[in-house]
Amino acid sequence: MNNPVRPADPDAIREAAGLLRAGALVAFPTETVYGLGACALDIRAVGRIFAAKGRPPDNPLIIHVSCLDDITPEVASVPEVAKQLAARWWPGPLTLVMPRGPRVPDIVTAGLATVAVRVPAHPVALELLRAVGAPVAAPSANRSGRPSPTQAQHVADDLGDRVAMILDGGATQVGIESTVLDVTSDRPMILRRGSVTLADLESCLGVGAVDSVNIHKDREAARRSPGLRHRHYAPTASVTLCQPKTAEALASEALRRGEIVAVLIRGEVGQTTLCLPERLDKERTNRVLMPHAAIDYARELFGCLRALDRLGAGALFIEEVPRDGLGGPIMDRLERAAEGSGQPR
Ligand code: TXA
Ligand code: MG
Repeated sequence: MNNPVRPADPDAIREAAGLLRAGALVAFPTETVYGLGACALDIRAVGRIFAAKGRPPDNPLIIHVSCLDDITPEVASVPEVAKQLAARWWPGPLTLVMPRGPRVPDIVTAGLATVAVRVPAHPVALELLRAVGAPVAAPSANRSGRPSPTQAQHVADDLGDRVAMILDGGATQVGIESTVLDVTSDRPMILRRGSVTLADLESCLGVGAVDSVNIHKDREAARRSPGLRHRHYAPTASVTLCQPKTAEALASEALRRGEIVAVLIRGEVGQTTLCLPERLDKERTNRVLMPHAAIDYARELFGCLRALDRLGAGALFIEEVPRDGLGGPIMDRLERAAEGSGQPR
């Protein structure tokens, strides 16, 4: 089988744009995670995204465009707050949910009256979008339920036999998916937390201007954001979230049961890289040191979960991180990973 991974040079990007225009699937890097792209106006091509990922059809897709002006044909109107936020964060890791324009196919929005749009801040993604000259629908390029891919190889591992090309633009910078903000009502509502935090949004719109409900427990958020209903971020290993300093004690029981066990602990202040053993010891609890600062932790998290699967880990014990700033979005993902883990796929 041909290897679909190609370094994202100008020739490959041009070729990828042609493939997208012809209805094929192309994975590409963004600043958050890799996306699995298809031409958003081509119903059959978008259908291939759902088939390749095994994605439930009620979970809508984000449309990617290269600049603010390009959203005009896809939305019914651009709310004033959307203009303000786009001026501040686009290109960037903020997805805006707006009233849907008439030409956006139902399959993209899962039949909702809204459409999610963003301009990614990655030179390869932007060059690709400009070369395609049409909006590109792209979920994270993982099999449904798995951790999102932060490297081209992760995409190849999950979807290598199902895509026409994977543009390799190196490891992604942010490491977790974009913030999803619904701007269709008077009070914008965060539907998925990401690296653009509540405090960031409030610094732009004013303190108290954004809904910061508990997005996992709030019914209204769940109704508006179908993505919250589905399993996500789960490695093959089972995941248990632990209070700080308790992971090793909890892990010892799994070790006695004969499982291959790893604990994920934050390193000391100043540790910016992931410290992962080359192989896992069956006889003891393997320590994985995560970067200390949330910004570095977020960048390494999904790759770490995938690496531990590859090393054969059976049970992961992950220490909670402080929930301030980017810690909140990280904890959302860890909680989802713990919920969905250890279940048959
Ligand atoms: O960073 C990202 O957002 C990445 C990169 C590739 O852009 N994309 C991504 O897509 O994470 P996906 O499909 O894995 O997650 C999209 C999220 C889901 O939770 C989905 O339910 C929500 O956005 N969403 C999409 N359209 C929506 C809509 N019209 N209303 C509410 N939520 C929507
Ligand atoms: Mg996803």
